[in-house]
Amino acid sequence: MNCLGIESTAHTFGCGIIDDKGRILANVTDAYKTEKGGIHPTEAKQHHENAKDKVVEDALKAANLKPEDIDLISFSQGPGLAPCLLVGLKKSTELAKKLNIPIVGVNHCIAHLEIGKLLTKAKDPVLLYPSGANTQVIAYDGGKYRVFGETLDQGVGNFIDAFARYIGLGFPGGPKIEKLALQGKNYIELPYVVKGMDVSFSGILTNLKQKYDSKKYNTEDLAFSLQETVFAMLVEVSERAMAHCNKNELVIGGGVGCNKRLREMCTIMCNERNGRFYAPPNEVMVDNGLMISWLGILQRKQATTNYNSLDIKPYERTDDVEVKWR
Ligand code: ATP
Ligand code: FE2
Repeated sequence: MNCLGIESTAHTFGCGIIDDKGRILANVTDAYKTEKGGIHPTEAKQHHENAKDKVVEDALKAANLKPEDIDLISFSQGPGLAPCLLVGLKKSTELAKKLNIPIVGVNHCIAHLEIGKLLTKAKDPVLLYPSGANTQVIAYDGGKYRVFGETLDQGVGNFIDAFARYIGLGFPGGPKIEKLALQGKNYIELPYVVKGMDVSFSGILTNLKQKYDSKKYNTEDLAFSLQETVFAMLVEVSERAMAHCNKNELVIGGGVGCNKRLREMCTIMCNERNGRFYAPPNEVMVDNGLMISWLGILQRKQATTNYNSLDIKPYERTDDVEVKWR
C-alpha cells in the first residue's frame, strides 16, 4: 500500500510518499521564504497555491509512480494557519476523489513523533519538538500522546530568530546563532525560565536585547549564552518527562533539532540516565510531507471516502487525538 501525504500547515508545502512497510519513496518540499522571517498567512497560502501541483508531480516522479499507484491520501489537518491548511485539504481531496481512494487527516505534531520513531527505531520515546512556532515535550500515556511541557509564549525557533533579527543576522537565525555561538567563550548569566514542566522565552529575549544594547558584552558570548541557557531548559523538561513516564528514549523533531549543541546536550543527559538519544535526518526535522504520509499509513483504518466530511483543525492539540494505531 502506498500513501501520499500532503503538508501545508505553515511555510512549507510538502508531498511525501511511503509504503506500508515504511519504505520511503519520495519527499519533496517547497518552502515560502521571507527576507526577515515571520509569516504572512495570505502570502504563504499564495505560495502553496502556486507550488502544490508541481510538488505533487515531482514527488510522483521521484517515486517513479503513476497517480494510479497511490492507494491512500493523507493530509496535515492541524495545528496550523487556516488559509494554508485549506490549500492542503483542497489538493488532497481533489486527488483522492479523482483516484477514488480513501483519505485521512492527521495531526502535524504527532507526525513529527511517528516519523522520528520509524527512522530511528526508537520504540516508546519522549519527543522533544522544538520548532519555529512550537515547543513541546510529548509522550504516549493512556491512549494519547500527552503534552508534558511546552512553551508558555513563543516557540524556541521564533525566539532565536527574533534575537538574530534584532542583531542584524537575517532569517532564519537558528543556523547563524549556532555558528556565532561556536566563537563564544564566556557564559553570561541570563534568566532561566522553567515553570513546572513549561518554558518561556519572552523575558529572556528582552534581557538579551538589553544586554546587546548596553554594548558591554560581545555578540559571540551572547549567542553562546543564549544556546546554553535555553537548550538547558529544554533538556531539563525532557529529562523530567522521561523520569515521570519511566521512558528511556528521547527523539528530537522540529527545526531547532538541527542544532548540534542541542543534540550534544540531549546525548549527555540521556547517557547519564542510561537512556538513548535519537535524531532522525534533518530532512524530516523540518516540516515535510513524508511524516504526513507515514502517519496516514498508521491511521489508514480511519480513512474515509466521504470526501465532504473532511475539514481542517487549525487549533487541534496533540492530546485531542485518540491514538488508535498503537
Ligand atoms: P512548525 O509549524 O512545526 O512550528 P516551523 O516552520 O515554524 O514549523 P520548522 O520548519 O520546524 O519550524 O523550523 C524552523 C526553525 O528552526 C526556525 O526558527 C530556524 O531558525 C530553526 N533552525 C533551523 N536550523 C537551526 C539550527 N541549526 N539551530 C537552531 N535553530 C535552527
Ligand atoms: Fe513542524
